[in-house]
Amino acid sequence: MRTFHHIPELRTHLRAARDEGLAVGLVPTMGALHAGHLALIERSQTECDRTVVSIFVNPTQFGPGEDLERYPRDLAGDSRACQEAGVDALFAPSTEEMYPAGPGDAAARTLTRVCVSGLTERYEGAVRPGHFEGVATVCAKLFQIVQPNRAYFGQKDYQQLLVVQRMVADLNMPLAVVPVPTVREPDGLALSSRNAYLTPEERAAGTALYRALQEAARLFGGGERSAEELKRSMHAILGAEPEVAVDYAEVADIHRLSPLDTIGDEAIALGAIRVGQTRLLDNVLLGATLNQHPRRAN
Ligand code: PAJ
Repeated sequence: MRTFHHIPELRTHLRAARDEGLAVGLVPTMGALHAGHLALIERSQTECDRTVVSIFVNPTQFGPGEDLERYPRDLAGDSRACQEAGVDALFAPSTEEMYPAGPGDAAARTLTRVCVSGLTERYEGAVRPGHFEGVATVCAKLFQIVQPNRAYFGQKDYQQLLVVQRMVADLNMPLAVVPVPTVREPDGLALSSRNAYLTPEERAAGTALYRALQEAARLFGGGERSAEELKRSMHAILGAEPEVAVDYAEVADIHRLSPLDTIGDEAIALGAIRVGQTRLLDNVLLGATLNQHPRRAN
């Protein structure tokens, strides 16, 4: 595996693969890799000839007072995991490489931002203003740098997945965005780099989010079509955990993420909670399966 910290060297390396007509897959991450990230890597390896993993804790997607400074960083461990997984190239740029030095913080040094309106006003976008602009902008940059045929994103961050898919479609970026199902602990907790922050008590309380989403799925499976009923049952489960503060627990349209009153054939139940200092998010699809067919490059 080759590791690159600089854009020109990575570009030169990838040009050779492209010239040979090989398909390049990109797995963008912020590191602290876990089995969820590895599922994305494995998927890329089954579909692409070369897999590039990027590790960059992107400052522009963190708001003031969020966990940018304490976000877990372990490049040596991540590098070993990528090597063992058979990754071809690891791209681990510095903040200055991605946002060239100048006055102000990284956000101030990026005059060009990608804003995917409409999909970003609710849920994570409402709780974390500016977050999706940071995500869309860094993903656009990574797509330009790597020029992958396919890029892999987890269902766990469903709103992020839709935002990136929409950006790629709207800006005619020539790659397919491939969704990968959420990888969970045996008790249902979705794997997340942020789980490392949880104390054992918080971790136990954190499973309430998946239990709430599962209850919504159970009610839906039993024929319930009132979003209000599903939300009520999710809030009841979350409310029973004194350590849990709910940011949102909602039922929405799977394409536009607009809230629903009455559920048709398909929907998504999605939620975000805070347990102590840690934010957890998760979702389950109701009556729908993740469309795992990569969208055709356009
Ligand atoms: P990060 O949180 O490191 O996640 C990288 C990718 O792994 C995302 O596509 C995310 O949805 C996926 N992922 C995380 N946990 C998962 C799980 N349990 N199962 C399946 N996939 C999972 O998301 C980001 O980084 C950043 O916003 C990024 C896209 C890299 C832009 O900075």
